[in-house]
Amino acid sequence: MRTAIVTGGAGFIGSHLVDRLVAEGWDQVVVLDNLVTGSWENLAGHHPDRVRRIFHDVCEPWDETAWNLEGVDLVVHLASPASPVHYRRLALETMWANSRGTGHALEVARRFNARFILGSTSETYGDPLVSPQDEGYWGNVNPIGPRACYDESKRFGEALTMEYHRRYGLDVRILRFFNCYGPRMQQEDGRVVPNFIRQALTGEPLTVYGDGSQTRSFCYVSDEVEAIFQAAVRPGLAGEVFNVGNPEERTILSFAELVADLVGVPLRTVKAPLPADDPKSRCPNIQKARQLLGWEPKVPLREGLRRTIEYFRARLEASR
Ligand SMILES: NC(=O)c1ccc[n+]([C@@H]2O[C@H](COP(=O)([O-])OP(=O)(O)OC[C@H]3O[C@@H](n4cnc5c(N)ncnc54)[C@H](O)[C@@H]3O)[C@@H](O)[C@H]2O)c1
Repeated sequence: MRTAIVTGGAGFIGSHLVDRLVAEGWDQVVVLDNLVTGSWENLAGHHPDRVRRIFHDVCEPWDETAWNLEGVDLVVHLASPASPVHYRRLALETMWANSRGTGHALEVARRFNARFILGSTSETYGDPLVSPQDEGYWGNVNPIGPRACYDESKRFGEALTMEYHRRYGLDVRILRFFNCYGPRMQQEDGRVVPNFIRQALTGEPLTVYGDGSQTRSFCYVSDEVEAIFQAAVRPGLAGEVFNVGNPEERTILSFAELVADLVGVPLRTVKAPLPADDPKSRCPNIQKARQLLGWEPKVPLREGLRRTIEYFRARLEASR
């Protein structure tokens, strides 16, 4: 019997990971989520025996006895607000989820001698002074700015994870996700992909922060989940850190053009000031993931966007 715990499994990336684990024949996936940004709707269709939904704030103590967990092979810790809109609104909650929450998840992994995967972020690099970023880069982070609640708590989570590895020999793997997109993103979470798609579909101008020359790279969610899955099943990777993202870099302005083109509307933009500490570039070096996870993104941006636009179109129509 193979059991995995996925914290934040009712969210965007987490729910796709749950789908994948079930499809790969995992016997039980236990989802811990307090639904602060996720929804059980994302797990609709899974049988409750196979996917157990436990409403729980990961910052509170975990009661595995009450949850009747007999064995756990894998813990994937994804529970954290993830978009700037959410982590500003939930700044302290974000800090606790990535510190206390990570501690609780690590303790349970230790008790069951389970493999542990930390869902970290490219934001640990802050506003990077080198591009592309590889895993050896320490970052350029403002520790007291408005993004610090996220960046610094993720960095703390990474440090804590590595200490569990050093002290207890826990088999941990850290994944630094760069921008990921796809169906089940929330329309209103303020990230550029749902923003542009929603605005294009509703006939609004697309909001471009700054002059639009800042770059981002976008990884489709099925590719992202493939990387998590490989990190979960491959032996011999304890203590390793991986960038997970698409190295194809684009300016925000050229991304706006692409979204307008795929939605089939003329490009109209409205400018807004750049948010504080907004990174000017984001581009992963994924050489290490290529070598050790046998992974690289496969879904072309146009195709991933087409699927994501269809998802948002269907949701907009359903809400009318
Ligand atoms: N989506 C991306 O582009 C991206 C990029 C970098 C890192 N990440 C990381 O990946 C993880 C998942 O992100 P996502 O995009 O799926 O976000 P999401 O908001 O869709 O999912 C996060 C999930 O965690 C849950 N959660 C938050 N705080 C919790 C708590 N205290 N207790 C229990 N559940 C809690 C939410 O309800 C939600 O279901 C996060 O850790 C995020 O930091 C995501």
